[in-house]
Amino acid sequence: MKNFISLKELSAKTIVKLVKLAVRVKKNPLRYKSRLRSRYIGLLFEKPSLRTKTAFYLGALQLGADAVYYGPGEVNLGVREKVSDGARVFSRYLDAVVLRTFSHSLVEEFCKFSSVPVINALSDLCHPSQVLGDLLTLYELKRDLKKIKFSFVGDGNNVANSLIYALSILGGNIFVASPSGYEPSGNVLREAQKKARQSGGRIEVVNKIKEAAIDADVLYTDVWTSMGREKEVNKRRKVFSDFQINSKVLKMAKKNCVVMHCLPAHRGEEITDEAIEGRNSYVFLQAENRLHSAKAILLYALSRVE
Ligand code: CP
Ligand code: NVA
Repeated sequence: MKNFISLKELSAKTIVKLVKLAVRVKKNPLRYKSRLRSRYIGLLFEKPSLRTKTAFYLGALQLGADAVYYGPGEVNLGVREKVSDGARVFSRYLDAVVLRTFSHSLVEEFCKFSSVPVINALSDLCHPSQVLGDLLTLYELKRDLKKIKFSFVGDGNNVANSLIYALSILGGNIFVASPSGYEPSGNVLREAQKKARQSGGRIEVVNKIKEAAIDADVLYTDVWTSMGREKEVNKRRKVFSDFQINSKVLKMAKKNCVVMHCLPAHRGEEITDEAIEGRNSYVFLQAENRLHSAKAILLYALSRVE
């Protein structure tokens, strides 16, 4: 059974295969329009979502499947009933479950008991479907990840962790600039360093934005306060104030440096209006690519890949 949980379980070959499938799906969507006919996908979202919900919901419909959506507070896994019970019940109705939740251990627990494929649509630890879409965007804009300096600026959060996994598996160079105490997870870094040693990749975690920004080919950022951490918002605004993508930071990067953000963005915090609206910003291409890549993930999980 093919789950899609954190990217770390996938080989470079499989990730490349998924990106190439997303390229084909984007180029010729009609060719895939009945691949998932008579399949039913559950979308269980315990946090809000615009892009991920739409990408998987619409993606399922465009592949000929149908979808059932459960919003925040509806199922209450682990509260209203045990995760293990919920997972087994969903498995009796559905062909795959797309799950957005808080703790990553809930995703793992769900997988243990699910007899249908599980797709992680964001947990506190990682956001692999976002990053598969970003790999499609990077493939379109830069082709060879091994030849670029990719820099993530800001919170060492779920998106940062998934980018680290992806680039270390694929042999890319990733710089992460975070304030002290807000670096990516130590476990993720250890696992990724091992992968980078095998792939020829490089991971650098720094506490000064300058080190990541100088000569960067890509500058990627995300919100300072992720969903579930709202109580820390004021503290984080102070801690992260130097970790903003703005015109001063863009001047340190390469001239054609690509600006990326998974969205939603908090303009004036992690990124300025000017930077997100600039000619090197590809945030809406990233958002569009979520759809094509979500379709590739569904085809992969449901074994409808050529
Ligand atoms: N980037 C992203 O995952 O957006 P949503 O939270 O709106 O799905
Ligand atoms: N890091 C953000 C990503 C949102 C798509 C969050 O978890 O809220």
